[in-house]
Amino acid sequence: MAILVLGGAGYIGSHTVYELIDAGRDVVVADNLLTGFRAAVHPKARFYRLDIRDRAAVDALLEREEIGGVIHFAASSQVGESMSDPLKYYDNNLGGTTVLLQSMVAHGIDKIVFSSTAAAYGEPERVPITEDDKTAPTNCYGETKLAMEKMMGWTERAHGLRYVALRYFNACGAHPSATIGEAHDPETHLIPLILQVPNGQRDRLSVFGDDYPTRDGTCVRDYIHVCDLAQAHILALDHLSRGGQSDVFNLGNGVGYTVMEVIDTARRVTGHAIPTQMCPPRAGDPAQLVASSAKAKRILGWTPRYDSLEDIVGTAWSWHKSHPHGFEEK
Ligand code: UFG
Repeated sequence: MAILVLGGAGYIGSHTVYELIDAGRDVVVADNLLTGFRAAVHPKARFYRLDIRDRAAVDALLEREEIGGVIHFAASSQVGESMSDPLKYYDNNLGGTTVLLQSMVAHGIDKIVFSSTAAAYGEPERVPITEDDKTAPTNCYGETKLAMEKMMGWTERAHGLRYVALRYFNACGAHPSATIGEAHDPETHLIPLILQVPNGQRDRLSVFGDDYPTRDGTCVRDYIHVCDLAQAHILALDHLSRGGQSDVFNLGNGVGYTVMEVIDTARRVTGHAIPTQMCPPRAGDPAQLVASSAKAKRILGWTPRYDSLEDIVGTAWSWHKSHPHGFEEK
């Protein structure tokens, strides 16, 4: 039986497909290529270009392939855009997941692992954050991801479809081979933006706020390598295949770094000066987001392999240096 990866041409999806193929699994990828890249799809995966909101196309795929479990990344994921165009997020994230679950139920496929987010918590009451802390999203992206989790819960009660929701903290880094990596347009994430400076694509990095109650005044985040996230999806699917129950897990390293510490690390890794410019805080940015991933370690047996920020930034740099325009030929 194959594993279906929806959104397998995107950043975290493509890395998960590489890990699945390395583990000898049979993989089918579906992606509408609106934000993903065909070149990011592992050559050994069978690829279907489709939109998960298209019920006929999803049905046809599930009839053609023998699918044992689904890993679902196909969603819109930009916080800023979700605030200016919330209905796009309801349509793609909730509408798409509704169609997918309807088709899975109709075809008797009863296991799904999917991307949720630290944005489900909103402004945390304490760090590190555990899975039973309050969920109060402060943006529409987090709201739709939390609603996807709840949709899965009700679907399980009615139809017995089990799920694992993985709440990622700050995904970063690239495959150690540097054949795939992060490529967003527009790019909004800290590490790729920092690396545009040594790559000659940006003069300086804007630092959003230096008056937060943190050790140097800049925001603290928990940076987790994309290949470690990928491994967690495989472990979560194996957990469901063994009959494990539906659950929600945080995925982070449990260590927080300030924006200035990330920039300093990038200076060391690249050997380049990276000038900065202090800017006003970005709306909706919590001061600190750090995960407790004790539950994922205990129940899934997950152990992140990249626990050094230097190694993480090093893999990102190898990718961006060798692919300054991402997957696009320019
Ligand atoms: N930052 C800067 N300058 C930049 C870009 C980012 O100072 O040019 C700062 C941000 O203010 C933030 C930190 O760098 O403090 C990290 O920002 P990112 O945009 O890389 O990541 P976020 O923490 O904002 O977002 C991440 C995920 C989202 C998820 C969110 C949960 O990328 O998908 O965590 O809060 F929703």
